[in-house]
Amino acid sequence: MRRVILAAASLCWTGPALADAASSAGSSTVQAATGQLVYQHVCQGCHMANGQGGVGAARIPALAHNAKLESSGYPVYVVLNGLGGMPWFNGMLSDQQIAAVITYVRTHFGNDYKDAVAPADIAAVRGPAPTKEN
Ligand code: HEC
Repeated sequence: MRRVILAAASLCWTGPALADAASSAGSSTVQAATGQLVYQHVCQGCHMANGQGGVGAARIPALAHNAKLESSGYPVYVVLNGLGGMPWFNGMLSDQQIAAVITYVRTHFGNDYKDAVAPADIAAVRGPAPTKEN
């Protein structure tokens, strides 16, 4: 039996539900709940629809086929603390949202790291939200 992987195609839509979610994000809390929604809502603007990254004002690394995602601690660190031109999301996304989006990128875009990241994994390493003084 042949399986046709359509994951990339399914990532290309943006629907009214997302527009609604975006309009509710006036506070610092992003409402998106699932990994895919968090990705589309928060990460896709920079890392692009299928994780290919790009070159614009900053070089955005591809998350697609990215061996640095093999160790989940690395993307957890980057998302919590930011890196270079990437903002931090500690204080903006919940443990559940960060766990979901990292699990999502580690199992999509040609990545196949099946060990799911749990909210408790985020809670364990999340410190106080960074401030400008840091
Ligand atoms: C404002 C643009 C922007 C947004 C939004 C953003 N990133 Fe990034 N991201 C970057 C940039 C720029 C880098 C490269 C930083 C560097 O190496 O200096 C990066 C790096 C990364 C890396 C490290 C990749 C590597 O090869 O070292 C990961 C993992 C990552 N981002 C995941 C995410 C996830 C998950 C989200 C959504 C929660 C996200 N990013 C949102 C701009 C962004």
